[in-house]
Amino acid sequence: MEAACQQKCDAMPPISDDLNVTRRTVVVGTAASAATLVVRPAIAQETQESRAPPPASVVTTSVSFAINGRRESLTLDARTSLLDALREHLKVSGTKKGCDHGQCGACTVIVNGRRINSCLSLAVMHEGDEITSIEGLGTPETLHPMQVAFIKHDGFQCGYCTPGQICSAVAVLGEIKAGIPSHVSETLTSTMRVTDVELRERMSGNICRCGAYANILAAIRDVAGVQT
Ligand code: FES
Ligand code: FES
Repeated sequence: MEAACQQKCDAMPPISDDLNVTRRTVVVGTAASAATLVVRPAIAQETQESRAPPPASVVTTSVSFAINGRRESLTLDARTSLLDALREHLKVSGTKKGCDHGQCGACTVIVNGRRINSCLSLAVMHEGDEITSIEGLGTPETLHPMQVAFIKHDGFQCGYCTPGQICSAVAVLGEIKAGIPSHVSETLTSTMRVTDVELRERMSGNICRCGAYANILAAIRDVAGVQT
């Protein structure tokens, strides 16, 4: 391939007779320039790195919390997210990692009754907390009513977002019951209604790539006892 290319370049007439520049010269020159551009930053970076101070040693911190009713104590890199503590250290893998940037809701868990994105929270911030993941809501033998409703209404396809959707949905009904307003609440009283607008707004942080939104909504309505 390279030899064929070289033959083709050599067979071409010069680009400029005055300068006696051939296409091959131009190609070789361009390649050399590009290589220089790539190599120079690499050399600069290497020089910078060799002058930089050695990386600080990892700071570890101990934390103790309850996950699904079971008390756990961990010594972790202080930068570990709650999501990674659950999945990588405690093997509670029902909680999913989607974006790891607080944008999809796949990692939603319930902490002291409130839902949070566990990818955005450091594990060491949860000393003494009560954390509930999908594994703590129900078991295969005794499903949570929200899990039953998701199955009944076909509220998922691939299921990757589902643990987060269900944890969020359970907490959403708790929020409405407690009279906690959302951006679209018609009223700020404890008699807040479970409407589709309320549910859509409150569930908007949970993304479903499969687009099962209509069925997810039907499942939450069902648990809330709301007729369509
Ligand atoms: Fe946490 Fe997406 S993984 S919000
Ligand atoms: Fe597949 Fe929601 S069911 S992403």
